Amino acid sequence: MAKVLIVYFSRTGNTEKMANYVAEGVRFAGAEAELKKVGTIKKEEDLAGYDGYIFGCPTYHRDMTQNFKTFLFLAEKAGLAGKAAGAFGSYTHSGDAPKVIADTMEYVLKMNLVDLGSFNALEAKLQADDPEIIKACQDYGKAVASLI
Ligand SMILES: Cc1cc2nc3c(=O)[nH]c(=O)nc-3n(C[C@H](O)[C@H](O)[C@H](O)COP(=O)(O)O)c2cc1C
Repeated sequence: MAKVLIVYFSRTGNTEKMANYVAEGVRFAGAEAELKKVGTIKKEEDLAGYDGYIFGCPTYHRDMTQNFKTFLFLAEKAGLAGKAAGAFGSYTHSGDAPKVIADTMEYVLKMNLVDLGSFNALEAKLQADDPEIIKACQDYGKAVASLI
C-alpha cells in the first residue's frame, strides 16, 4: 500500500486539526497516512520509505516557523525528488508559509507538487468546524495521494 508522511508544526492546534483531515483524505484515496510532528524528525533517515510527503506549517509573521526552515534543510538531503508532494497551513490573513514550503518542495527538493498548489485554511473556519473546510482539507490529502 502507498504510504504518505504528513509532517507538521502547530503552535495552537489549528494546523494540527488540518493535518488530521488531510490524513483522512489520504486514507480515502486508499493510501496509508502517517502523521509526525516536525520536532520528531531528527535525521534524513526519518523521512525514508514513503511514496508521498505533505508538509504543514502555520503562518507567523508572514513566514514559516524557524523549526520548519531547519526541517526543510534536512529534507533537502533526504533524496525526495520525484515524490508526490503537498503543503498546507492555517492562517488568519496572509497565509504565506504553505506557499513558500510548496515552492521549496517543487523547485528545490524537485518533488511532484499537486497541481492545486499549497492549501491554506482560515483559522476561523477551522475553529468553527466548517464542513466546507474539512472537506477541502480531505480533498487536498486525496489529491496528493492520487499522484502516487
Ligand atoms: C504573533 C502572531 C503572528 C501571526 N502572523 C500571521 C501572519 O503573518 N499571517 C497570517 O496569515 N496569520 C498570522 N497569524 C495567525 C496564525 O497563522 C493563526 O493563528 C494560525 O491559525 C495558527 O496556527 P496553529 O494553531 O497551527 O499554530 C499570526 C498569529 C500570531 C499569534
